[in-house]
Amino acid sequence: MDIDVIGLFPEAVRGFCDCGIVGRASQLGIVTLRFWNLRDFAEDKRRTVDDRPYGGGPGMVLMAEPVARAIDEVRAQHEAPVLYLSPAGRVLDHAAVMEFAARPRLILLAGRYEGMDERVVRACADEEWSIGDYVLSGGEVAAAVVIDAVVRQLPGALGHEDSAREDSFVAGLLDHPHYTRPELWRQERVPEVLVSGDHERIRTWRLRESLGRTWLRRPDLLEGRELDAEQKRLLEEFKREYRG
Ligand SMILES: C[S@@+](CC[C@H](N)C(=O)[O-])C[C@H]1O[C@@H](n2cnc3c(N)ncnc32)[C@H](O)[C@@H]1O
Repeated sequence: MDIDVIGLFPEAVRGFCDCGIVGRASQLGIVTLRFWNLRDFAEDKRRTVDDRPYGGGPGMVLMAEPVARAIDEVRAQHEAPVLYLSPAGRVLDHAAVMEFAARPRLILLAGRYEGMDERVVRACADEEWSIGDYVLSGGEVAAAVVIDAVVRQLPGALGHEDSAREDSFVAGLLDHPHYTRPELWRQERVPEVLVSGDHERIRTWRLRESLGRTWLRRPDLLEGRELDAEQKRLLEEFKREYRG
């Protein structure tokens, strides 16, 4: 997969992408990341990319032309949809991440200041995506979030393929709790079932915890969801114990 990032501080995204799973996926050629600095597309010697907002008010606005020139340059190399990261966009979720991961190419466009001239958004952005209902200082962090979430879904990106399959949201539920050594930590033991070696008991315990945690913390994920007989039984068991 190819991902291009355009912004004012692309090196911040590059730094993040050199580490961990994304860094490893890059080295393995699973993802090819390219970073483009908007200042390289400015029209003057001072590399100006922003100006005051028409109508007055605080802050600056990214100018349309450097943004359009950057997008044209990237698209001249390979055609791809431009995703503008913006608080006004559709909120990212697991389904969107999976859909992005199935695309061969993406161009992520990060804004700064008050955002960018609306005309270039209309002319050049194919989609607008938000990473949540809060405002960041720049779209670079949002681009890093999209890259991280997408790359871990690409075949071969995770050392252990099951890790992504068992993550929260994949099956529409939150993940179950995890424990590691030592078995006894500050007077608390790990749940007995996890050291029993009984794989079937471990599977049902994990499923029950996953259902129970989703019911407690994200009941919206269970709304309209048809549970099978085992899931219903385990969730009822969890609720009884929780209420008791
Ligand atoms: C300070 S913000 C602009 C906020 C804008 N004036 C508003 O209130 O909607 C600057 C840039 O950060 C990025 N950004 C901020 N919050 C974001 C979010 N929740 N999701 C995605 N990008 C975001 C966008 O690229 C935006 O152009």
